[in-house]
Amino acid sequence: MNVMIFTCSPNIDGLTAACGNAAKIGAEEAGAKVVMVNLNRQRIGRCLACSNGWGTCREEHVCQVKDDFQELHASIANIDAFVMITPVYWGEMSESAKAFSDRIRRCEALKKDQSFFEGKPVISVAAAGGSGNGLTTCLTSMERFLTHVKAEKFDFIGITQKNRVYKLHAIQEAARAIGGLSPRKGE
Ligand SMILES: Cc1cc2nc3c(=O)[nH]c(=O)nc-3n(C[C@H](O)[C@H](O)[C@H](O)COP(=O)(O)O)c2cc1C
Repeated sequence: MNVMIFTCSPNIDGLTAACGNAAKIGAEEAGAKVVMVNLNRQRIGRCLACSNGWGTCREEHVCQVKDDFQELHASIANIDAFVMITPVYWGEMSESAKAFSDRIRRCEALKKDQSFFEGKPVISVAAAGGSGNGLTTCLTSMERFLTHVKAEKFDFIGITQKNRVYKLHAIQEAARAIGGLSPRKGE
């Protein structure tokens, strides 16, 4: 299995990064090949809602805004499973997670052929502060994204600074589970 792990925090040694490390260990323990992508290190701007709301994303399934998005989008075709980890900001995904998911949703959701995510397992992780305020609304927005791109919702994990010890273990185990699956038929 090729597993792509997105981390979406500017903090390289915070909770999001710890979740990414746990997922990487789990997926690799299962024999998966792991690609780590820190979306905060990518130059991916927001969707410009080109023309009157749709650009080339609607019919050609490519984004006409030229930045690091294009290469990352193309590379996703060869991935079998995903782990998406965002810090909870204002009860939502972080800005880098939002910018990327907004743009890839537009390109993938309306494909007549299979979307790059279709039927592929995704683990969604929302990493919150001590309060956990907005953790569920963040996971809900991730769930809506996965519905639009027709992914398989493998797990939704909320983690806070207070429960991190056992939740990091859960993330490692979840990643081990998807890492040990067989790639989708026809791939
Ligand atoms: C702009 C901003 C907004 C935040 N909003 C929330 C929030 O709504 N709920 C919450 O529990 N934590 C919130 N936090 C705290 C972060 O979710 C928490 O510290 C998380 O662990 C950050 O991830 P990191 O360790 O990868 O930096 C916020 C932090 C920032 C910087």
